[in-house]
Amino acid sequence: MSTQPKKRVGVLISGRGSNMLSLVEAAKAPDYPAKIVVVGSNRPDAKGLEHAAAEGFATFALDHRLYGKDREFFERDLHARLVENNVELLVLAGFLRLLTPWFVSQWQGRMINIHPALLPSFPGLHTHERALKAGVRIHGATVHFVTAEMDVGPIIAQGAVPVLDGDNLNDLATRVLAVEHQIYPMALEAVASGKAVVDGFRVKVKGFDQDDKSLIC
Ligand code: GAR
Repeated sequence: MSTQPKKRVGVLISGRGSNMLSLVEAAKAPDYPAKIVVVGSNRPDAKGLEHAAAEGFATFALDHRLYGKDREFFERDLHARLVENNVELLVLAGFLRLLTPWFVSQWQGRMINIHPALLPSFPGLHTHERALKAGVRIHGATVHFVTAEMDVGPIIAQGAVPVLDGDNLNDLATRVLAVEHQIYPMALEAVASGKAVVDGFRVKVKGFDQDDKSLIC
């Protein structure tokens, strides 16, 4: 078992929180290098907050709508909540707010996100609709470090799924979500243990000459 202290993780969500719960499950393993210390949301009605509280985690909600149009005003409070909880690593798990360069700079190299597509394909919204429309045969999900440009940061882990004849939106979304639940715990483990480090555009995994196969599925 590692003698390193577990990294203190804050998770931000906006909705049902199924990715957050996949991290909660993974973090139950005694040798998992990360410990979730707080779950926050920009939506007080996010279902995931109830799930997190039921699991015994500290939660908070900061309703972005009460902050008007000034994103940084909201983010300063959000940042303060995370700092109060001594968060070391920030995990965006379906957190559907654009972040300002100010916030990103506070968490540079310490904030990761999951995106429901194989980046750099299909950044932004409605990824499954766009994948179906484009006729791609492979779709999936990506975990990446967050940089000031949306859905562009260095890639940590990816999971691919086939797009089958006759798939509808729900079929594809369900298949991708299952792979999200596999890759996010693996990616967080790699980052929290210090094995995954950013080297330019590439995330290198210490101790491996080749790609760590556990970051691809
Ligand atoms: C997930 O599919 C995640 O990839 C996506 O939101 C969903 C949240 O589901 N994130 C984004 O689209 C970010 N741009 P969850 O609340 O069940 O984890």
